[in-house]
Amino acid sequence: MNRIVLRFYTPGASPRTDDWARGTGYHTPMTASSTFNPPTRVLMGPGPSGAHPRVLRAMTAPILGHLDPEFLKIMDNCNNMLRTVMKTENRITIATPGTGTSGMEAAVMNLVEPGDKVVVGICGYFGERIAQMAERSGGVVTRVQAPWGSPTDFAGVEAAVKAAGNVKLVGIVHAETSTGVQTPVEPFAKLAHDAGALLLVDCVTSLGGVPVTADAWGADAVYSGTQKCLSAPPGMAPLTLSPRAWDAVKAREVPCNTWYLDLSLLEAYWDERRAYHHTAPISMVYALHEALALVLDEGHQNRWARHETNGRALQLGFEAMGLALHADEGYRLPVLTTIRIPEGVNDLEVRGALLKRNSIEIGGGLGDLRAKVWRIGLMGESSNPGNVLLAISAMGKILREQGFKADIRAGLSAATARLEQA
Ligand SMILES: Cc1ncc(COP(=O)(O)O)c(C=O)c1O
Repeated sequence: MNRIVLRFYTPGASPRTDDWARGTGYHTPMTASSTFNPPTRVLMGPGPSGAHPRVLRAMTAPILGHLDPEFLKIMDNCNNMLRTVMKTENRITIATPGTGTSGMEAAVMNLVEPGDKVVVGICGYFGERIAQMAERSGGVVTRVQAPWGSPTDFAGVEAAVKAAGNVKLVGIVHAETSTGVQTPVEPFAKLAHDAGALLLVDCVTSLGGVPVTADAWGADAVYSGTQKCLSAPPGMAPLTLSPRAWDAVKAREVPCNTWYLDLSLLEAYWDERRAYHHTAPISMVYALHEALALVLDEGHQNRWARHETNGRALQLGFEAMGLALHADEGYRLPVLTTIRIPEGVNDLEVRGALLKRNSIEIGGGLGDLRAKVWRIGLMGESSNPGNVLLAISAMGKILREQGFKADIRAGLSAATARLEQA
């Protein structure tokens, strides 16, 4: 049988990209079969979630040119479906190339000009990322910190906006993936608008899993990612800007600090001018198209209810098993649950055993919560009753081996009771 030789590199050395680039590698032949065999995992971490088979099938469709009229139709359809899924009529509703961070960067970099005042409500890892981007854009940023496990501090943001005066942008994270907390958006929209500011909302982990209603909220910039509750692979970032936000982009005095994500340039590709800006990631647009069609087929209410039922069943199950949830009650996301790691239990050993024995991926803690919590996602395709019961029984067993007396039977029966209410 012919062996396909892909690459040679120095024996004993790792195949580092820089070796390859310099062309210094030689010797050990690698074959296609030895290098590409990703296992099938149960993805229950903070993302990516499992992709729907229809989405994966769509990605194998023939590649079209990015200016082919048939592709442009697909792209337009995609934007129309995005408007429905994000619950907005904003003309500027697109998906930027790149993961969720590209949506964040497009929104922040385009809206913040040097000297602009920005207030960011931070209650976890991703709020801090917004603040850092706003600073890179030349913004004068006030950070309002909340404990990691609580929602964004409304009173603190209100006081900061008042103290700063003439604030251009208020930024918050709807679903903080690092803590499993959901922050109610409407009060922040009113606060921002009363102060003459725009409201930016990170919905990377919420879109497609919990209600995101951009227009009803009064949000001015909302972005998300494809790999969480939309159940497509990582690679695109849905983004919508209100007419007020778009006016602010158009009124900029200096071009923004990014060319690739400059929305004034991108607009000419996405609108009827179809001017070349970059080569659209064709297969990812197919994937997003199919993922959005799946949301519409299922229906918003059904989809939100499914995520709610499975998330709450998981939470009740873990509590009944004897574990403590980290996020404040009343603000817990159904799509991402943070569980406190019990005393004496080894974080890495538990996650390692889950992966090795059960092929289940869950997440560890980020930033301040490192080695303190586990993050269990039930997003998109991964949000199903089977995964709820699997996670409880598999983790329960491993926890018992670690010396923690997990009551697996109580966990399973509490989760089942909640699942049966649906
Ligand atoms: C709330 C939130 N914002 C932003 C991001 C960044 O998205 P990505 O990793 O897709 O670039 C993430 C990723 O987990 C997230 O959870």
